[in-house]
Amino acid sequence: MFSVHKLQQTLPRLYGWLPRMLSPGRALPPLHAYFEVTYRCNLRCDMCHFLELIEETETGRRWGEEISPDQIKRAIDDLPRFTVITFTGGEAFLKPGFMDVLRYAARRNKVHVITNGTALTPDLCAELIQLRPKHWFAPGLFYVGVSLEGMQTTHDRVAQIPGSFEKTRRGLQELVRRRNGKRFPLVHLTCVIKKENVRERELVSLYEMADALGVNVCNFVLNNPAVYKHAKGFASEVDLRQAAPPVESIDPELLRGQLARLLEAGREGACAVRFSPNGVTPEEIVRYYSGQSDYRNYVCRAAWSKVGVSAYGDVFICPHQKLGELDEHNGGVPWNMPVIGAFRRRMKAQKIFPGCLGCCQSEFTGQRKKNH
Ligand SMILES: C[S@@+](CC[C@H](N)C(=O)[O-])C[C@H]1O[C@@H](n2cnc3c(N)ncnc32)[C@H](O)[C@@H]1O
Ligand code: SF4
Ligand code: SF4
Repeated sequence: MFSVHKLQQTLPRLYGWLPRMLSPGRALPPLHAYFEVTYRCNLRCDMCHFLELIEETETGRRWGEEISPDQIKRAIDDLPRFTVITFTGGEAFLKPGFMDVLRYAARRNKVHVITNGTALTPDLCAELIQLRPKHWFAPGLFYVGVSLEGMQTTHDRVAQIPGSFEKTRRGLQELVRRRNGKRFPLVHLTCVIKKENVRERELVSLYEMADALGVNVCNFVLNNPAVYKHAKGFASEVDLRQAAPPVESIDPELLRGQLARLLEAGREGACAVRFSPNGVTPEEIVRYYSGQSDYRNYVCRAAWSKVGVSAYGDVFICPHQKLGELDEHNGGVPWNMPVIGAFRRRMKAQKIFPGCLGCCQSEFTGQRKKNH
């Protein structure tokens, strides 16, 4: 298979390299744009960065204050056609008018959606399949990510909604089935590595299930304890200068064994096994969950290739760094504001900040030495 993963790793690095070297305060237009289209969600995953925001949005019925589908479309119009667009949230499929936005975006850009998969009914899957690109270089919905945090009991406990695992599993199955042997959309399953799913030895079971369903990639992600405050403002000075809060610890031997079995299963199966952040090794994952990771072994280059838009119209370059707002005149996405120039220069000088440890936008560049 043409490796999306390799492309995801290499392209932003090459793309950001020249401005980073010659004029680090500035960047070329974004290669990748994230839209957090809503902070509504029907699940309450206990590790979710957005949990407070989701709770506030749902209990305070604040979704009326979120940006409209038309505002999202105007922002899309301002992006180059080569920008890859990811729609996420909250749960994007709960936003009224989201399918219209998705159709619009898929006509002009390459599009990726991340979902908890509970809304993937047969009708919705059929619609999604219609949006697939004809070939690698055409616009369209080329990637769908579905999140599961373990097998049935574990997932339902983490998501705090009984029955959610089965809904997602059925949705995933339906989506893959409806591809009918065609390549697109590629489907990835994402699972955050947690004490629960490791203790129950479910990383491998989840992989085997995904492989049997025909999923293309299983992505196992470090649990990032950062809390995202997109509705309340951003606080990079505070959040990034302090060490990241400690993550739950996981027994090193148990975790090491699970990861080894996972890699073994990945070698036998058709579905690829990936770890996130990019470049992390099983030993670094073990160190991370033993409180022995060092943030200085990571680098972040996101500020030269990515931009995000919150459901309130804030534009951000990092979950902790606001860049501005959608342009009040043309609704466009600014990415070279003076404030971000200073942030980029700091970023280049420091490579990464203490508060970044665990962030999926970072990249592990440290030694691949063994843990003792
Ligand atoms: C915030 S969710 C939004 C999209 C959708 N609701 C979903 O769950 O896929 C996007 C991704 O972030 C992951 N995620 C949530 N909390 C996380 C955390 N603390 N550390 C790492 N990834 C996390 C989820 O598992 C999911 O794959
Ligand atoms: S489904 Fe996604 S947005 Fe909702 S709580 Fe879980 S991780 Fe967060
Ligand atoms: S790694 Fe990059 S995107 Fe992530 S918190 Fe740090 S600066 Fe922000």
